[in-house]
Amino acid sequence: MSTATERREQLKTLYEQTRNCRLCALSETRTTVVFGAGNADAELMFVGEAPGKNEDEQGVPFVGQAGKLLEKLLAEIEMDRKDVFIANVIKCRPPGNRDPYPHEIDTCQQYLWRQIGLIEPTMICTLGNFSTKLLRGDPTGISKLHGQVEQRVIGPRAVRLYPLYHPAAALYTPSTLEMLRADFQRIPELLALGAPEQPREPELVAEPEPDRAPERDRAPERDRAPEPDRAPESERVPAQPPADSGGSQLGLF
Ligand code: URA
Repeated sequence: MSTATERREQLKTLYEQTRNCRLCALSETRTTVVFGAGNADAELMFVGEAPGKNEDEQGVPFVGQAGKLLEKLLAEIEMDRKDVFIANVIKCRPPGNRDPYPHEIDTCQQYLWRQIGLIEPTMICTLGNFSTKLLRGDPTGISKLHGQVEQRVIGPRAVRLYPLYHPAAALYTPSTLEMLRADFQRIPELLALGAPEQPREPELVAEPEPDRAPERDRAPERDRAPEPDRAPESERVPAQPPADSGGSQLGLF
């Protein structure tokens, strides 16, 4: 079991491996690899879709309009970005904010799985269809699944998976915002349940192959357009504000 400091060091190492990634063509059009940001020792992780224009420029996930909404919803449950870790399925911006291609998700998902493996959250909120389908390994869309918590083994550990609408989908649709807000309000009680019961033997579960169903339910316009062995609170390393904006994201977690 890693301490908070070790987790952060391991995440930094992973970030260093990721920041110069050239595994797909998005590396030719991106400005920055948007690795993720927040508390390396977080109980709660959010997984969005892919960076948009603002995120690509700043190297920080969810800094545009959808990010502002995410922060507002967090504030309503008395949390903020430094309490959680925020990442995306895809670490580089798809040009023009198009949907990520299946081969891009296939290539990039290894980074997300490794982030989850290092952070070991007790709960993961998927935001929208892409992350929900990837982490569930199933093509069921977010409109059917939002607000339904389930226990899933991801890597060697069981987590509570809690699919939510993508904040960008809620920006211009009041009824979606209402559902997202209602689902958000349940986060504190779900977190209070602590870690789900863990598999007896650490079993390595293969990363699920996402089914590429049509993205019917996706956001209309992405805004880019008490776990016993966890480090005690006192040892947790809080997220830090963005360090230099000149490339390094090491200050983000
Ligand atoms: N939308 C996402 O899915 N991720 C971001 O980082 C920003 C907008």
